[in-house]
Amino acid sequence: MTINSAPTARRVAVLVGSLRADSLNRKVAELLRDQAPEGVVIDIVDGLADLPFYEETLDAEATPAAAVALRDRVAAADALLAITPEYNGTMPAVLNNAIDWLSRPYGAGAIVAKPFGVLGTTPTPFGGKWAHEDAQRSARIAGAAVVDGAVVSQSVLEIDPLTDVDAIERFHGVVNALLAFEPAAA
Ligand SMILES: Cc1cc2nc3c(=O)[nH]c(=O)nc-3n(C[C@H](O)[C@H](O)[C@H](O)COP(=O)(O)O)c2cc1C
Repeated sequence: MTINSAPTARRVAVLVGSLRADSLNRKVAELLRDQAPEGVVIDIVDGLADLPFYEETLDAEATPAAAVALRDRVAAADALLAITPEYNGTMPAVLNNAIDWLSRPYGAGAIVAKPFGVLGTTPTPFGGKWAHEDAQRSARIAGAAVVDGAVVSQSVLEIDPLTDVDAIERFHGVVNALLAFEPAAA
């Protein structure tokens, strides 16, 4: 057993908002996974394409296996990180749908109280900031503990996010902020 699979490891579940095989955002997720420090597991949760669109009756009568698996993976994590591009000024539907599944049962979904952050890249000057703002708002309404500053919207017009040292440091900074998060005392 490697140290990163030790039971004491801190886990960050990652939802990738692009289904594209050659997705740059997926590659950023894989880079963070491969560069995770000792004792930290970056768990890229696959299978988002297998989730049906959220539907309450379906969830009540026969929660799909893909949704059960998603909920289990996120419930087992210490924090949740979305790594996503922007589609038409907001987050891709696949990510929005995953957040919907994680938001139920109401008040007890796997996302509830989970430290949440978001980062991503797009080939525009804004780096997907509207998608990232919307993901934060949606996660907050779903019950997540959206962590201040745990967001990076990285334009890739001028840099390669897989090799740019400053960008990679900012990405790691989001993971670090999630793992350092402590809820405010009641
Ligand atoms: C349907 C669609 C809508 C898009 N809308 C936006 C947008 O609103 N803002 C933006 O910055 N990029 C937009 N893009 C460009 C994506 O950010 C770009 O294709 C990105 O590289 C996709 O990420 P990926 O490499 O992880 O698949 C859009 C792309 C698609 C396919």
